[in-house]
Amino acid sequence: MKKRILTGDRPSGRLHLGHFVGSLANRVKLQDEYEQYVLIADVQALTDNYENPQKVADFVRELLLDYVAVGIDPEKSTIVVQSMIPAIAELTIFFMNLVSLNRVLRNPTVKSEIEEKGFKESVPAGFAMYPISQAADITAFQADLVPVGEDQLPMIEQTREIVRKFNSLYGEVLKEPEVLLGDYPRLVGLDGKSKMSKSLGNSIFLADTAEEVQKKVMSMYTDPTRLKPTDPGTVEGNPVFIYHEAFNPNKEEVEDLKNRYRAGTVGDVEVKQKLIVAINNLLEPMRVRRAELESNPGKIEAILRDGVERGRVITEEVLSEVKKAMKINYSF
Ligand code: TRP
Repeated sequence: MKKRILTGDRPSGRLHLGHFVGSLANRVKLQDEYEQYVLIADVQALTDNYENPQKVADFVRELLLDYVAVGIDPEKSTIVVQSMIPAIAELTIFFMNLVSLNRVLRNPTVKSEIEEKGFKESVPAGFAMYPISQAADITAFQADLVPVGEDQLPMIEQTREIVRKFNSLYGEVLKEPEVLLGDYPRLVGLDGKSKMSKSLGNSIFLADTAEEVQKKVMSMYTDPTRLKPTDPGTVEGNPVFIYHEAFNPNKEEVEDLKNRYRAGTVGDVEVKQKLIVAINNLLEPMRVRRAELESNPGKIEAILRDGVERGRVITEEVLSEVKKAMKINYSF
């Protein structure tokens, strides 16, 4: 039997190159080897967008387009809309008993998000609890492996704790998942300062046009101490070279650019132009797949319907095991 993957994203923004090297590339690579489920986590997206439900609803479709564009093949992977899987909500309720309030609020990702979003003293309970519902996402599919970026490590750790607690209390029912980080689990943003993040405005999106990529790369931060192309430059930690490493498959070209950069015999413009070509080569087939699916609304609907149907079958099985273990599988 194939091992299972469960992973997902919140439908509240477009996916970018940070997502690609953090986890999407792994999902594309592993979908043949694993039975893969990819969750469009709309319930989780509502925990910080509850005042803007239309945005979440609209992004369900956008996220699906991103998935298919990047190469997640609905014939091989099952794409599932979270709110349509009632078993996840039920598991969340059961799991809440297994986690202390203090533990939830100690989750480092939740902590920094609370800070970032400026919730201050009025953190919505649903937001604070989302790691518990993420544990339900993962266990509802009995996932063996969860490919994610680095910011999600605390979620998987918390899931593993919940699984251990559940199994020790009620019997060995749930699987303890492993995490899989991408080649660049935390890609630096265009500004060179923080990680690539939609909210920081320092991202190249998978859906960007060739012109947008060009503009963004040309405005990228490089080595601030280098004023002229004849100054020796620093390659290490330079975001333009980090991107070359990550996105330019022509390793010889990258080595040559690095050597000339260090020697002061290449200008930023040439380095950036070659990067633009590499990124656009990566994104071009994605643009084609996106356009193809976008022009076929019937297919979009069919993929979503089919995914939900398959997702329900699996998660209902797991839920029924859970209820049995918890002695609430009444027969009346
Ligand atoms: N928390 C993830 C994010 O913000 C999205 C997510 C929801 C997820 N459920 C998941 C990721 C289950 C992995 C597994 O990107």
